[in-house]
Amino acid sequence: RARGVKPNPYHVWLSEIMLQQTTIAAVGKYFAAFTTLWPTVQDLAAAPLDDVLVQWAGLGYYARARNLHACAIAVVEQHGGKFPSSAAALRDLPGIGDYTSAAIAAICHDEQVAVVDGNVDRVMARYLALPRPVREEKPLIRASVQAAVPKRAGDFAQAMMDLGATICAPRRANCLVCPLKSDCAGAATGEPL
Ligand code: ADE
Repeated sequence: RARGVKPNPYHVWLSEIMLQQTTIAAVGKYFAAFTTLWPTVQDLAAAPLDDVLVQWAGLGYYARARNLHACAIAVVEQHGGKFPSSAAALRDLPGIGDYTSAAIAAICHDEQVAVVDGNVDRVMARYLALPRPVREEKPLIRASVQAAVPKRAGDFAQAMMDLGATICAPRRANCLVCPLKSDCAGAATGEPL
């Protein structure tokens, strides 16, 4: 990315859909199999649905695999085989919601949109020391992330997710090594929950 190379939207989309229910470690071999069998979104769209479901076996939530195939077809039929670049246009495709549309637009095109998954919710709830459960704080969390998105929106989005997956982890926040510690309201209280 730093050298001006943009990620392939097909790869980003495929990995984000797979990562919605599975860890990064477990997704690796599925991602490799899909991109070997179907190197482009056109290839995936042309594949029989049953073949896609067979390759998906083990990832769970088969509705996601059906949507994946439907989305590939929609990209080919409605967008000439090229994923739209804006989060708003991506949002209209099958199986692509707020999170996935924002993730693709930010990572592939540096669109300055808030990319908020469960990890980012937790990081922000701690960072702002929000008093109420995350589900009640979503609008404030989204607005706070949106206000912070820099020009390198894709790197920012992935840094926030990685921070939540590794340092600001669900059961224990490792504040000692956290790059956000100095401004974190949760860390200031002692033990962020
Ligand atoms: N989890 C799902 N998508 C991710 C991404 N793009 N970066 C880090 N963690 C993720």
